[in-house]
Amino acid sequence: MKVFASCELPGDALQRLAAVCDLDTWTEPHPIPANVLAERLQDCDGLLCLLVNRIDEALLEQCPSLRFVSSMSVGVDHVDVAALTRRGIPLGNTPGVLVDTTADLAMALMLAAARRIPEADQFVRSGSWDPANPWHPDFFVGKDLSGATLGLLGLGAIGQAVAHRAAAFGMRVLGWNRTPREVAGVESVSFEDLLSASDFLSVHVALAAETRKLLDRDAIARMKPGAVLVNTARGGIVDEAALAEALADGRLFAAGVDVFSREPVAPGNPLIGLPNVVLAPHIGSASRGTRLRMAALAADNAIAAVAGEAMPHCVNPEVYGRN
Ligand code: DGY
Repeated sequence: MKVFASCELPGDALQRLAAVCDLDTWTEPHPIPANVLAERLQDCDGLLCLLVNRIDEALLEQCPSLRFVSSMSVGVDHVDVAALTRRGIPLGNTPGVLVDTTADLAMALMLAAARRIPEADQFVRSGSWDPANPWHPDFFVGKDLSGATLGLLGLGAIGQAVAHRAAAFGMRVLGWNRTPREVAGVESVSFEDLLSASDFLSVHVALAAETRKLLDRDAIARMKPGAVLVNTARGGIVDEAALAEALADGRLFAAGVDVFSREPVAPGNPLIGLPNVVLAPHIGSASRGTRLRMAALAADNAIAAVAGEAMPHCVNPEVYGRN
């Protein structure tokens, strides 16, 4: 069986996969262009990919021999899952292993945005902290987490892990989930109440048709004045232009943004020029241990598929019903 990996992976993931199939790997430092991916997949049975590879109808039409796809990601919005399912192709992902690492980043962005860490860092580095600009009572004042209300947009595993951390910071935690969910330590509220009552709003829903621009211009306008927005989920969930306007005119205090509607972020993205936004390049899962675990799960899914078995983590398990 022939499998193509669109990137080298950490640890022994690809060695384990190569031991059970004929493995071809993209080894260039830049992501594989879509047309080259289609060429390399011509005679392949399987694909191990990343979230930067778009797996859509156009690609699938060019790859009739494809039998499985394993993505080293928990999010699968880069994949046309319905198109795979129509063809009976299972899609594997890597849930569970990045929960704590992503929750840590949400807290890091919350703290950095609330306490203006990038601005303060820049102030010191640039030599602006001089006798003409000494410490004074208004010096880089921000917001406290302690005693503040955190709203969680989405109460899946990552949202729950953030709730756990927020409780330790002395925050009151509110939550809203598309399908109502009771979580210990989290007060379930309506979407409206979440927007209007949260001093900090942290996004933890998956990107799907129902959540695209869930935080649109209207929703952002209904957020509590002076609130901080943190997004470690997917860029497409938030209207970036509306967010930038709310931050620029001071209606929102700050934001921490790890994910963008277009990645890598477009140079003209309005969030980039704002001092009250902490930016990160989609690093929610970026710890050594978590990336090793993600690679291992992606390989496990592919190895199971090569053996003709069900993937241990399959997004569209209904495809197995047909075999
Ligand atoms: C995922 O796996 O979907 C994450 O966004 C990677 O950090």
